[in-house]
Amino acid sequence: MSQPGMSSRVSPLASDLLAQDSRPLPAGLRLRSEFLPEARTIPFSRYTDPAFARLEMERLWTRTWQVTCRTEDIPEVGDRVPYDVGSGLALIIVRSGPNEFKAFYNACLHRGTRLVNAPGAGDSLRCPFHGWQWRVDGCLKTVPCQWDFAGVSAATHSLKEVKVDTWEGFVFVNPDPNAAPLKESLGVLPQAFEGRGHGERYTFAHASKKIRANWKTVLEAFLEAYHVIETHSDALPFTGDASTRYDIWHDGAGRISRLITPSAVPSPHLGDGASMQIAADGVAAFFAMAAPGVPVPGFDTSRGNARAQLAEWRRGLMGHALGRDFSRHCDSEMIDATQFHMFPNFGIWFGEGLPLLYQFLPHGDDPNESVFNVRLTMPLPAGGVRPPPCRINHLDFDDYFSEKAPEFGALAHVFDQDLSNLPYIQKGMRGASPEASRQTLGRYMEQRIQYFHNVLGDVLGVA
Ligand code: FES
Ligand SMILES: [Fe+2]
Repeated sequence: MSQPGMSSRVSPLASDLLAQDSRPLPAGLRLRSEFLPEARTIPFSRYTDPAFARLEMERLWTRTWQVTCRTEDIPEVGDRVPYDVGSGLALIIVRSGPNEFKAFYNACLHRGTRLVNAPGAGDSLRCPFHGWQWRVDGCLKTVPCQWDFAGVSAATHSLKEVKVDTWEGFVFVNPDPNAAPLKESLGVLPQAFEGRGHGERYTFAHASKKIRANWKTVLEAFLEAYHVIETHSDALPFTGDASTRYDIWHDGAGRISRLITPSAVPSPHLGDGASMQIAADGVAAFFAMAAPGVPVPGFDTSRGNARAQLAEWRRGLMGHALGRDFSRHCDSEMIDATQFHMFPNFGIWFGEGLPLLYQFLPHGDDPNESVFNVRLTMPLPAGGVRPPPCRINHLDFDDYFSEKAPEFGALAHVFDQDLSNLPYIQKGMRGASPEASRQTLGRYMEQRIQYFHNVLGDVLGVA
């Protein structure tokens, strides 16, 4: 086993901070794994080669359980959204009954027209070309001039379905008709999110950002905290970047990994004499941006870190705002950044420190472009009344979150920092020396990237 992170006198490893929590840890933070992925070569061609992108379409996206949307996006029977993976997989996700969802290929069975181009509603799916119509369960309903289409009936021309299942308010699909149940691919997630499920959350902010980088380039920028030292250096005074804990659960179809990055402690890079007070104040200022006008109390760091004090402040703030009881939520889940990844492209964060959801998708046929979908979520207010669906904020290649998506608050700046690197990573990989055209990964801190690629290689049948 390699060294599991770096600590300083004032900044212990994440595991040691968790052991000092004022509350019992929930499963999402208690679970551990000792699995370490095999070191294998990851060539840059995986990110840049159109042939590799075609292989992904052929053997990954068409055969894998993948998250599409949230049930809250389509709250009424008949509501539908398109789901696109590059230009190779196009589906419609429909609420076909109060608690029933279906996914259809997004192509008319007459002459192929794409049926749904934007979120919509209604009791039928209607083609804009000649007006063929289907019920929301996919059954053929109307063919104008039916007399001219002998042999066309609901039995022959109902919409073609793919497998759908839901978990905690997420709608998943798998285009493989022989796919094993979703449950197997969720792996450790149901256990980890027990009692903290996203079924009881809603989308507070939702953006879809086009990026000039491969979907894996973008994904991998969020799988490690190693980049904080350079990319988010302004967060070093209050982020335990190098003390982050990483775990992987490799369990058949369940391919799940997690990172826990502590906050309210200085980066171990800042040394044994780094200020605990600045760490506490920095995190307080970060969270205060989400609650303008709320006074920030002083935190006493004279006897060590102020994590428990900060967590207690947040319990009060969130409890007051939502009318919910957070007294059993542990310190870590109130302030730290804990993120799970489900292969291939789903990032689901745990707790209230950074309550985000990520989805990474190819864009068109170009391996140098992708779409990053991100949501900020909140627990449902007391009474469980669900706010109406959140509008998707579409950001183009050159848009900045801080200019076009202020609803993400302090995180808009953080995303801009992350995204600013991505086109240059992609360009760099395309222009690399043939002798150095591969990743060089840290054995501990970048193990989730290694693991992701080992699974991808196995799924695609490439070395
Ligand atoms: S192509 Fe859809 S009705 Fe003709
Ligand atoms: Fe980042």
